[in-house]
Amino acid sequence: MLPLLRVTKMCWVPSARPYFPPDEIDRILEELRKTLENGALTQGSHVREFEALFARYVGVRHAVAVSNGTAALEIVLRYFDLRGAEVIVPTNTFLASANAVIFAGGAPVFADVEGSWLCLGLEQVTHRLTDRTRGVIVVHIAGMICPETERIRQFCKVRNLFLIEDAAHAHGAQWNGRKAGSLTDAGTFSFYPTKPMTTAEGGMITTDNDALADFARSFRSHGVPPGASVHQALGHNHRMDEVRAVLGISQLRKLEEFLMIRRSVARQYESALKSFEGVATLTPPAGFLHSYYKFPIVLPTPEKRDAVAKALKTRHSIDSGTVYWPPCHLQPVVRARPDIYPLRGTFPMAEDILPRVLCLPIHAQVDRSVADRVVGALKNELEQTHVRC
Ligand SMILES: Cc1ncc(COP(=O)(O)O)c(C=O)c1O
Repeated sequence: MLPLLRVTKMCWVPSARPYFPPDEIDRILEELRKTLENGALTQGSHVREFEALFARYVGVRHAVAVSNGTAALEIVLRYFDLRGAEVIVPTNTFLASANAVIFAGGAPVFADVEGSWLCLGLEQVTHRLTDRTRGVIVVHIAGMICPETERIRQFCKVRNLFLIEDAAHAHGAQWNGRKAGSLTDAGTFSFYPTKPMTTAEGGMITTDNDALADFARSFRSHGVPPGASVHQALGHNHRMDEVRAVLGISQLRKLEEFLMIRRSVARQYESALKSFEGVATLTPPAGFLHSYYKFPIVLPTPEKRDAVAKALKTRHSIDSGTVYWPPCHLQPVVRARPDIYPLRGTFPMAEDILPRVLCLPIHAQVDRSVADRVVGALKNELEQTHVRC
């Protein structure tokens, strides 16, 4: 008799994935049952609890829950009244960081990245400063607090410019014991499903500024402040509902555990990759604690990067990502609309480094064996990929 052919199907490794542990799913369902039965579906006790827990976690006076991370940015930017003003935004970000400036009535002016950590640096900010600059957005790319945040904050303070942290990647990231979202005038978070914690869709504003928090609470609900019944200002519907707040409370309860897993996967990658020729990792400077939303590595050439990404996918069933390629200034809509995205200067650092960045899978369900498989596949492909560096 012919032996049975054993077909071993390789399990797909996604680069990002939300995780709700089974005991949390039970608690969520119980809370949702109560919510559905009592009928308080939006802006109720769960939203208030989620906001209080998030504010305490980040270490700020106020957290205001909203519909998504883009709305969080737009609302903060509207508070600063951008009519006729420019805001400096790193080109290395998700385009939403810049679009929020446009939605709030201003013009996003892109700046190049600082090479070592893919984030904005003070030098890049100074290159884009004009009389119309009203503020700056730093983006904590991949989950590492932008290392120049404090220098940029001091620069902004002297010039009376606002500074916002787009912390959409950086839940729980720290600098000298202080959390992302507590370091500047305001922080904004996204809870999109790929992020370190999720509410499906959702966002949060964090700030110590009472007036900004009041403005946000009114703007997110049609310009009607909490407890009032009349429209006192222009507003929109950017409320978070109770269902999402229930998810958020659960995910926040687990966030530190998720981050421990991400950090241990990162340590495993770091130590294995040390011996890989031509692969650079982005190690956080002293005092910085990464949230590892992504684990970027830098390869010698864009061709090598693309070949390795393709081989990981097709030969090893391993997904990978970018952060970000193409960057904002090369996005088709930005090239096509100079009327809303004023492009100035050049972006040599972003164009050199970003097409060479490959992000390895990292999330709360990557264990040692999955990380070993990723490292093994990467090693194999770096040796096999006959593309000139
Ligand atoms: C850096 C950054 N800013 C803003 C956003 C927008 O968040 P959301 O998709 O929740 O609107 C994202 C989303 O991926 C992001 O990565």
